[in-house]
Amino acid sequence: MTEPREDRIVAEDVHKAFGDNEVLKGVSFTVPRGTSTAIIGPSGSGKTTLLRALAALDKPDAGVIRVGGEDGVEVDFSKPVSNDQLRRYRAQSGFVFQSHNLFPHKTVLQNVTEGPVYVQKRPKDEAEADAVELLEQVGLAEKRDQYPFQLSGGQQQRVGIARALALKPKVVLFDEPTSALDPELVGEVLSVIKDLAVEGWTLVIVTHEIQFAKQVSDQVLFTDQGVILEKGPPAEVIGDPKEERTRQFLDRILNPL
Ligand SMILES: Nc1ncnc2c1ncn2[C@@H]1O[C@H](COP(=O)(O)OP(=O)(O)O)[C@@H](O)[C@H]1O
Ligand SMILES: [Mg+2]
Repeated sequence: MTEPREDRIVAEDVHKAFGDNEVLKGVSFTVPRGTSTAIIGPSGSGKTTLLRALAALDKPDAGVIRVGGEDGVEVDFSKPVSNDQLRRYRAQSGFVFQSHNLFPHKTVLQNVTEGPVYVQKRPKDEAEADAVELLEQVGLAEKRDQYPFQLSGGQQQRVGIARALALKPKVVLFDEPTSALDPELVGEVLSVIKDLAVEGWTLVIVTHEIQFAKQVSDQVLFTDQGVILEKGPPAEVIGDPKEERTRQFLDRILNPL
């Protein structure tokens, strides 16, 4: 028997403008539970805006987005949204930023338990036990009592991932999680994300790491000028793109000289 398919994200006709700059011009897609979606596309095409809209870090101007599956939260952003609904909507997803944004004056362990203890009001010992497990998962158990400045960029980014997971989101959103890292540190972060995909987390990853997207994702969205120009499995969108603009973009990334 096949398991019932549940979409953890259903986004329909999402629009977002900054002033008269229309950045998202009607974006629709779904992300099935336990799958990874890579978002690729030229700089300025609206990838970050889309990810921040999904998380409601910036509210879209219009569009209906359901995050979290059957028990999740659906918001119609063309209508007024109550603060309570917005808070419940935001709690469905975790966000990993381009550069970590950890609290500099808190230890690694405190950074990971901050959200569960102060936002979710979970018991501190329980949150710590979970945090230790997450730190093991990202390979940083021995760094629990260190401060962010004592860690490499790759280690800081892995703490950022543990911190997002600690809130037990239904979906984890990554905005170019390796683009601020020195090249030799990229692999350790991608490897942690790959492990999450294998474990069955539902992930959406904006990335320029094309080989990673090809290996790890189930679906690739190619964004261009505020729309999804092409979407499908990586073997199609990356391996055999239909659109000329997708081909040009991939060619520029894969053959920069
Ligand atoms: N907070 C903002 N205020 C005004 N314009 C913005 C803001 N964020 C993004 N933009 C504009 O939206 C467009 C898309 O940006 P972005 O989503 O960051 O693209 P990408 O992540 O694909 O490089 C750009 O033209 C950018 O200048
Ligand atoms: Mg961006």
